[in-house]
Amino acid sequence: MKFFIDTANIDQIKEAYDLGILDGVTTNPSLMAKEGISGEANIIKHYKQIAETVEGDVSAEVISTEYSKIIEEGKRLADIAENIVVKVPMIKDGVKAISHFTEIGIKTNCTLVFSAGQAILAAKAGATYVSPFIGRINDISWEGMDLIEEIADIYENCFFDTEVLAASIRSSKQIKDCALAGADVVTCPLHTILGLLKHPLTDIGLEKFLSDYRKLNG
Ligand code: E4P
Repeated sequence: MKFFIDTANIDQIKEAYDLGILDGVTTNPSLMAKEGISGEANIIKHYKQIAETVEGDVSAEVISTEYSKIIEEGKRLADIAENIVVKVPMIKDGVKAISHFTEIGIKTNCTLVFSAGQAILAAKAGATYVSPFIGRINDISWEGMDLIEEIADIYENCFFDTEVLAASIRSSKQIKDCALAGADVVTCPLHTILGLLKHPLTDIGLEKFLSDYRKLNG
């Protein structure tokens, strides 16, 4: 399972990349706004910086919702760097645009996916990744992890190549649950990735090893 970081913050991307466990980055317009990035020139400059910081795929989201505009914007984003993946919303024009990007060899991430039916459409259009938002599903009292499992099963049954990119992850436990449910990729904030490190018995055990060593070695 690949690990992507879900942020547009360069320091956090570097910190995760330096751990040696990072396979890519996802962003969205809200995450770019959180970093104060506005205006097309600045947005492109920022994506370029992210794409140079990591080796893996970097999802850059279009803000257009009409087919020809999505195509124009997506091509501009794809031109920024070889590892840019064009992130397109699950709407009718988005599916059409994903089909076109697939035909011309541009990688895509179909975002805002909340049902298995939507995931089937994204895969039929040839999306490189499909992003089901598990946290937002849980927010409305449904079970996001069931959707990951369902999509993973469907893709296996139908031999779809699209990768299941579990998004909107809110806890470290959900990363483990995604691995069990068959996700190909998880994207999550840095603190959620770092949360996987924590176990009280690791801290207690390390303290004991070090104090025993110090008893004899000073
Ligand atoms: C990633 O592709 C999504 O944009 C992101 O994970 C959404 O997360 P959120 O529901 O926490 O905003």
